[in-house]
Amino acid sequence: MESIVDRIRKLRDRRRAVILAHNYTLHEVQDLADFVGDSLELAFRAAEARADVIVLCGVYFMAETAKLLNPGASVLMPDLRAGCPMADMLTVEDLRQAKAAHPGCAVVCYVNSSAAVKAESDICCTSSNAAAIIAGIPATQPILFVPDRNLGEWAGEVVGRDVKCWDGYCPTHERILPQYVQQAREQHPGALVVVHPECTSPVRAMANHVASTSGILSFCRTSSCSAFIVATERGLLHRLRAENPTKEFFEASPHMICPNMKLTTAEKILWCLEDLPGEVTVADDVAPGARRAIDRMLAVAPPRCRKARGRGVDHEPH
Ligand code: 13P
Ligand code: SF4
Repeated sequence: MESIVDRIRKLRDRRRAVILAHNYTLHEVQDLADFVGDSLELAFRAAEARADVIVLCGVYFMAETAKLLNPGASVLMPDLRAGCPMADMLTVEDLRQAKAAHPGCAVVCYVNSSAAVKAESDICCTSSNAAAIIAGIPATQPILFVPDRNLGEWAGEVVGRDVKCWDGYCPTHERILPQYVQQAREQHPGALVVVHPECTSPVRAMANHVASTSGILSFCRTSSCSAFIVATERGLLHRLRAENPTKEFFEASPHMICPNMKLTTAEKILWCLEDLPGEVTVADDVAPGARRAIDRMLAVAPPRCRKARGRGVDHEPH
């Protein structure tokens, strides 16, 4: 009998589809995807995909971003329930009130947010370019960063800017407690600690390196060290191990799971390509503003290399 992966690949080609997956998805999803990457890389892959259908394996805001950057393609999610609790911590009404309370602020919005929130913001950022985006705001202008207080605080520290942050956070990264990291350090002396900026300040203070998921991948790839304690969602360890077979990677905590990222399975990708359900759209009154905030980000901080990062399978169906 034909394997599920073979069935997916055949249907993918028949549908002129491309399968994009985030670094946190299940191993089985990463292994069958055409491209695996961080939020910024997925946005670029979506923008440049010459496909009728984009199957976005990740969470809802990533699918919205893909749709904004490639409005001609149908963007499908294999499981529409996959949201981001951090994005849900800020509504557009919340943001309007915060802007009224802090007039004159430049609003920097993490892409982990709804399209409506992006449309109310001046510029977007991802975890791989947050510091560069903040550095580009005129020194005299105050900054309001939404919705992640941890990423906003970290980016402000890197650049030496005072940043007012919305009180949102990622529940997965907040559960990586300093005591877990300390235990891992004691168990694996000599291992370097690599941390995602969505982690809290005490955990970031224990890091040898703080970076986005793709930043962690490139740091571990080029480091002369052979052991790493990784403080981010556990899905990233799949690529870290696959791309660095001679190095060791340890989880910084037993709780590094984003349940939303795990909702996409190989079966759901197959069903998605069979029946084409789960289409993601962005309302017409919101799309132009959201696209403007994303485009401003891309103008300030274009990706350094589109091909080399991620797993690099560049499937363009015929
Ligand atoms: P990056 O892969 O862009 O670092 O993002 C992490 C994340 O939490 C996405 O939801
Ligand atoms: Fe949202 Fe955190 Fe999951 Fe990323 S890891 S999708 S920020 S809940």
